[in-house]
Amino acid sequence: MNRRLGVLISGRGSNLQALIAAIGDGRLDAAIALVISNRADAEGLARARAAGIEAVIVSHRGWPSRADHDRAIVGELRARDVGLVCLAGYMRLVGAPLLEAFPNAILNIHPSLLPSFPGVDAQRQAVEHGVRVSGVTVHFVTPELDSGPIVLQRAVPVLDDDTADTVAARILAEEHKAYPEAVGLVLAGGWRIEGRRFVRSATGVSTSRSRLPAGS
Ligand code: GRF
Repeated sequence: MNRRLGVLISGRGSNLQALIAAIGDGRLDAAIALVISNRADAEGLARARAAGIEAVIVSHRGWPSRADHDRAIVGELRARDVGLVCLAGYMRLVGAPLLEAFPNAILNIHPSLLPSFPGVDAQRQAVEHGVRVSGVTVHFVTPELDSGPIVLQRAVPVLDDDTADTVAARILAEEHKAYPEAVGLVLAGGWRIEGRRFVRSATGVSTSRSRLPAGS
């Protein structure tokens, strides 16, 4: 897979920063070709530019339709020969033009163990529901919100005295490790989508079964 990433943001950009750091220290073999924000005030734009990465604003306002906004984003990504799109706090639904331009090549990171707590305020939803474990999910983007095949999940505990903010901070620390790792898995290839499942082929991949002692 083409290792040129396009990262879509709407705000803070700490996951973008984690990808920049992982590329910088050699944990992730990729290049960020372009950062796109739909909001001019996104902090992530400055993070990108500070790292020498081209960053553009494609506002969601002023287009005749949602699809036109999506098509404008596709144009920017194609112009930089992007192979994999990473949503990193991008607060817009991804529509058909973008999905069709990048089939099985758009990832999202979500701060819960999906399918629990999709949508906004996932960390607050987890605390209010009273779950004892939450976490982070990196998944492929499909037309339904926060529902595509799951590449990687990491769990964190939810403690008695947690608030939405303390849980969000604990999850965010895992997000920053999980996203570069998941992007690396996808770029490495040797996987397929089977129904809802992201399945890595056995060749060269240590599966839990192959770690079992012989005969077990
Ligand atoms: C993260 O919690 C991510 O999981 C969610 O939006 C937040 C973005 O944070 N999709 P940042 O902009 O990467 O700091």
